[in-house]
Amino acid sequence: MSTSPSQRVVVTGASRGLGLEFVRQLLARGGRVVATCRRPASADELAALAKMHPGQLQVLALSVDDEASRQAFVQALAGMHDGLELLVNNAGVLERGERFGELRADVMARTFATNVTGPMLLAQALAPLLARGARPRVLNLGSKLGSIASTASFGTPSYNISKAALNMAGVLMAHAMNPMGIGVITASPGWVRTAMGGEGAELSADDSVRSLLTLVDDVPGLPAGVFLDRNGETLPW
Ligand SMILES: NC(=O)c1ccc[n+]([C@@H]2O[C@H](COP(=O)([O-])OP(=O)(O)OC[C@H]3O[C@@H](n4cnc5c(N)ncnc54)[C@H](OP(=O)(O)O)[C@@H]3O)[C@@H](O)[C@H]2O)c1
Repeated sequence: MSTSPSQRVVVTGASRGLGLEFVRQLLARGGRVVATCRRPASADELAALAKMHPGQLQVLALSVDDEASRQAFVQALAGMHDGLELLVNNAGVLERGERFGELRADVMARTFATNVTGPMLLAQALAPLLARGARPRVLNLGSKLGSIASTASFGTPSYNISKAALNMAGVLMAHAMNPMGIGVITASPGWVRTAMGGEGAELSADDSVRSLLTLVDDVPGLPAGVFLDRNGETLPW
């Protein structure tokens, strides 16, 4: 049975794909959402959602890989006195076309900054706000491509390595934040039809996000950085 759903939520990378769908579904169930994106001025779908749900949606600029942007964003949330119940670390990047023999440091560093450093430092910065929320949670968007045990071929190395590191970041977040009452889940959304997943992917963003929100609502106890699929099954590290 579901507990009360998280109502005050920050979603990163909300301009499109899964992030936009999180915002849609959270608004539809009456939540107050801070949707972040790199370019709010051109986030037309978020602007339309703000019109449809007056007073429920705030759209703020955030490039998760940029220190100054993170600081400005956290500053903008300072007045959120009733706290935060969920941080969805959704923003992510997958650079295609990497080949062994031609790997580049800048691609690896950019991917790490977005997929690992951003989520970790954002969780750190928002921990005081989360600690004031009811049943607070961090949801990191992980990937089966981050599972070391399941890796059987050379594919998208910067992405795979970064998502494996995100699993560790989730466990460390839990060690730091469980004592503050904040649970941490790293969950794979499945293979989803977005710009990243491609048109041939198995799942719609609607179905994937519906499962992930149910997972966040229903996961028992104080999750300690668990690595799960969207249905709550444990994935191998
Ligand atoms: N789709 C899948 O099959 C799949 C599978 C496993 C895991 N995931 C994970 O699920 C999450 C969402 O994926 P998706 O499929 O929705 O991807 P997507 O369609 O490519 O969307 C990625 C989102 O992340 C944002 N973003 C990228 N770099 C950013 C940065 N430095 N700062 C802030 N925002 C940034 C993008 O913003 P812009 O519009 O500004 O570029 C966009 O909103 C990712 O973490 C991904 O790794 C997806």
